[in-house]
Amino acid sequence: MDKTEETIATPNFIGLLLEVEQDALAAIASGEKPVDQLRIELLGGKSELAKLTKQIRLVPPVDRAQVGTVLNQVKEKIKDALVKNQKTSVNTGKSAEEIDVTAPGILPPVGHLHIVTQGINEITRIFERIGFTRVRHPEVDWDWYAFESLNMPPNHPARDEWETFFIDFPGSPSKDHKKKRIVLIPHTSNGQVREMEKGKLPIRMINIAKCYRRQSDVSHVPMFHQFEGLYVDKNVSIAHLKGVLDYFVKQFFGPQRQARIRPFHFQFTEPSFEVDITCGVCLGKGCKLCKEGWLELGGAGMVHPVVLKNGGIDPDAYTGFAFGWGVERTAMMKSNTQLDDIRLLYSNDVRFLEQF
Ligand code: FA5
Repeated sequence: MDKTEETIATPNFIGLLLEVEQDALAAIASGEKPVDQLRIELLGGKSELAKLTKQIRLVPPVDRAQVGTVLNQVKEKIKDALVKNQKTSVNTGKSAEEIDVTAPGILPPVGHLHIVTQGINEITRIFERIGFTRVRHPEVDWDWYAFESLNMPPNHPARDEWETFFIDFPGSPSKDHKKKRIVLIPHTSNGQVREMEKGKLPIRMINIAKCYRRQSDVSHVPMFHQFEGLYVDKNVSIAHLKGVLDYFVKQFFGPQRQARIRPFHFQFTEPSFEVDITCGVCLGKGCKLCKEGWLELGGAGMVHPVVLKNGGIDPDAYTGFAFGWGVERTAMMKSNTQLDDIRLLYSNDVRFLEQF
């Protein structure tokens, strides 16, 4: 201690420390200055607290430990207050004084249902209006329901079209002829005989499910969705089928669109058809997108008598029609988007999906 320097009485020194503390907390609470600037002013080398720290040697030696404790407490309180204030200004980005309460709020981004889910919901609503009921059948099913009961015995060449995933299962083969092999369903037609087995007539089902095929290219994905309509009653004819197709096409795609049926072949319908709709861009005249004015929607036909028999229904008393289309393709055709690659639907790229 310099001989010219005077000692400071302990109570006075503590009084000075408490004054520094009060001023510092008031400055922090006012929010007038940025926290970083305050940190330098209140705790830096030129701060009042730093000066008092140096002057601690002017306090009588017996009291220095006590004064040192108070000094440390003051320092901690100032540091805490600075940290709390820093958090508040990070949250708002501004101090309380700077917030413009009249500025419009920032809206959080709002998501929406995937185009395929939107399609499934709308397709369900349209068919429910004319008395069809949405049903669910297994997506992992016996070969019997996916193929054999649909008039496609083992090794029938028509099965090739369905490029199927077969599932191995342990244990000895069942004696039940319906329970020989398991498949990931390649189409929703497995629901036809399953629905007939419920034993309730008439049948008006709409079966929507995931389907699986060993396919992946610009127009095919290994997992996709189909919707399958089935109507079985007395005296059901092709005229009923065409009426339902026209109704669906106008409800889903709009009143200007038209449907047509072309002869085709499926093992489980006789006669069988491909269903086309007029192109949404040229409305049937022919353009770059469709070439001939028509776009292919999917398959349909009158339920084959063998299928009715396999479902326990007398084909001499009852007839029916069925159709099965891809949800992905149908939904994309509605949006008139020429999709270069159907796999984009499942690549989870929000920039692509938010268009729909
Ligand atoms: C069938 O699957 C028949 N079960 C449809 C049917 C039902 C006919 C009832 C008669 C009576 P097809 O294999 O053509 O038919 O498939 C129907 C639709 O499923 C296709 O038009 C297409 O839209 C869609 N589809 C088929 N495979 C894929 C795939 N890998 N990726 C995306 N969509 C597909």
